[in-house]
Amino acid sequence: MNDFQKELILNLRKFCHNSIEPHMEHDDAEGKFRMDIFRGLGDYGVTGVTLPEEFGGANLSYLDYSYVLEEIACASVPYAVTVSVSGMVQSILMDFGTRALQEQYLPALTSGHEIGAFALSESHSGSDAANLKTTAKKVPGGYVINGTKMWITSGGIAKTYIVMARTGGEGAKGVSAFVVRDGVPGFSFGKAEKKMGWKTSPTRELIFENCFVPDENRLLEEGQGFKVAMGGLDRGRVAIGAIGVGCAQRALHESIKYALTRQQFKQAIFDFQGLQFMLSDMATETEASRLLVQAAAHSLDSGSPNSKLCSMAKLKATDTAMRVTTDAVQVLGGVGYTAEYPVERFMRDAKVLQIVEGTNQIQRVVIARHLKKEYEHHA
Ligand code: CAA
Repeated sequence: MNDFQKELILNLRKFCHNSIEPHMEHDDAEGKFRMDIFRGLGDYGVTGVTLPEEFGGANLSYLDYSYVLEEIACASVPYAVTVSVSGMVQSILMDFGTRALQEQYLPALTSGHEIGAFALSESHSGSDAANLKTTAKKVPGGYVINGTKMWITSGGIAKTYIVMARTGGEGAKGVSAFVVRDGVPGFSFGKAEKKMGWKTSPTRELIFENCFVPDENRLLEEGQGFKVAMGGLDRGRVAIGAIGVGCAQRALHESIKYALTRQQFKQAIFDFQGLQFMLSDMATETEASRLLVQAAAHSLDSGSPNSKLCSMAKLKATDTAMRVTTDAVQVLGGVGYTAEYPVERFMRDAKVLQIVEGTNQIQRVVIARHLKKEYEHHA
């Protein structure tokens, strides 16, 4: 880290320690999201890290962003995810939105006054995203959207939604992307999901019933919506990887701290070689994941996102988060399984990192397709 990054992260660490950490045990139990925490993150300039200053962003790199998300995730995976999904919406508006849409919606998102959400999944199309059924029917001046979106992170608390809907025939080429605002007629929220983790981040169903969206809210041309979604996900997957690193780092920290003080058989449990091997593997896997996330972040900063690397970073870092948090519960033993220590919360929060923004099986599909293409190219 350079001096600027060190200072940014040190200040953010203080904010997380003073303003997020004290609420997490209670809010995890109650399923409570606090907008004032999100706005506080906005005041620190970390809700629009990579966006240009003219739209209220901090104009920093994806590498800086990976440090920021890692740090927030060390205190709270759900708040880091709220920041990252809102960040993905911003990057989509930046890459594919018109100047008018950017001016209208970006400042509230970059400042942390509002939250953005991404609506691709449906009950019948999770991994097979191009098979979505929500329709956007052309009418004079715009489109009428009908359908239901499922498992939408920040559903109900977000104001700006990127919604993928079908304007044409079957498959990816029939999909278009739209900006839909909370509060427009015909757009409502369904049930809030009860989940294993991410309890402070609401996950809701979105319901569209004859919801009119004007032409100017369509991103790119009709039929380009799948590319919009996939382009956004390349960036989002690196962000989820960074969150995985933060989650693993916190679990590692709690494990070492505990192992150094917990005495059994007249010595600190850290001094048993069995535990040393476990802790060393946890530390090595975490560091390897961090380096892969940073390599993927560099590719985003270079202006030519490397989808293969983005998928690798997401896959490695979130599998690591699952493994390291599970091992952390084992290191802490009986108390690790109780809410007295935070490791069980981080273990529950890690699980869905392997599922969102493309399951880790889908990441392997993406990686394999790139490998095949590379080798066909060489042949
Ligand atoms: N960037 C730009 N375009 C891309 C792309 C990318 N990374 N990946 C694919 N495309 C384009 C392709 O080039 C193709 O266009 P052309 O035909 O013009 O070349 C088009 O998109 C279709 O691509 P595929 O043929 O590869 O499509 P597919 O149906 O085989 O699906 C898939 C590919 C990788 C499996 C994709 O469906 C996928 O990623 N599935 C997982 C869905 C997902 O990640 N959902 C996340 C939900 S959001 C979420 O979780 C956020 C949250 O709340 C936390």
